[in-house]
Amino acid sequence: MKGLFITLEGGDGAGKSTQIRNIERFFTEKGLVVVHTREPGGTQISEKLRDILLDNRNTEMTDVTEMMIYAASRAQHVRELIIPALERGEVVICDRFVDSSVAYQAYGRGLGDMVAEVNRHATGGLRPDITFWLDIDPAAGRARAAKAGELDRLELEKLDFHYRVYEGYKKIAEAEPDRVKRINAADTVEEICSNIYACLEKLCEEKGI
Ligand code: TMP
Repeated sequence: MKGLFITLEGGDGAGKSTQIRNIERFFTEKGLVVVHTREPGGTQISEKLRDILLDNRNTEMTDVTEMMIYAASRAQHVRELIIPALERGEVVICDRFVDSSVAYQAYGRGLGDMVAEVNRHATGGLRPDITFWLDIDPAAGRARAAKAGELDRLELEKLDFHYRVYEGYKKIAEAEPDRVKRINAADTVEEICSNIYACLEKLCEEKGI
């Protein structure tokens, strides 16, 4: 595929939205078409599934149900929006992708290897060219997220759940250092941006962009 697929990951309150805007600027200044999307969501069907997933009233949802709805939302998003954009040669910047399911459902919920297996079907094997993991301590991230507004169903989980998610991200980053770039989210917004831009310059050089 001709385009570039970039994902951002991290616990809640890591500051992903600000950096997504910076990444978008990086590529538009190069004259490239950028598609900014998110998971769960990004298409009409996937956004409906997002509402179900994040609704605080859905307290009965089982862990396997949750994992499969995230995967269903992703299966639609990949085929309806992400792959067509990449085939047109566009830059797709996605707020969360499969790594979130591995961190939150495999590690946080304890569902293990089943999560990666289901997601291989959901994505058809599509993988990001580069992933930025905005690394923030879960307690600090939660405090930031709470300040920003009402917490959703996942954000309301106990802190030990969020520490398991954090361990999951650490394992993913250790296993795939070429793809996953760890970014210290405790740095200033400007420092974070310049660390991300350095990785993007290198990626563009490798891809001849
Ligand atoms: P957001 O707050 O970044 O929009 O993400 C919604 C929530 O869903 C967030 O708490 C992380 C969670 N999540 C999962 O548990 N599994 C997933 O696969 C994805 C994409 C998100």
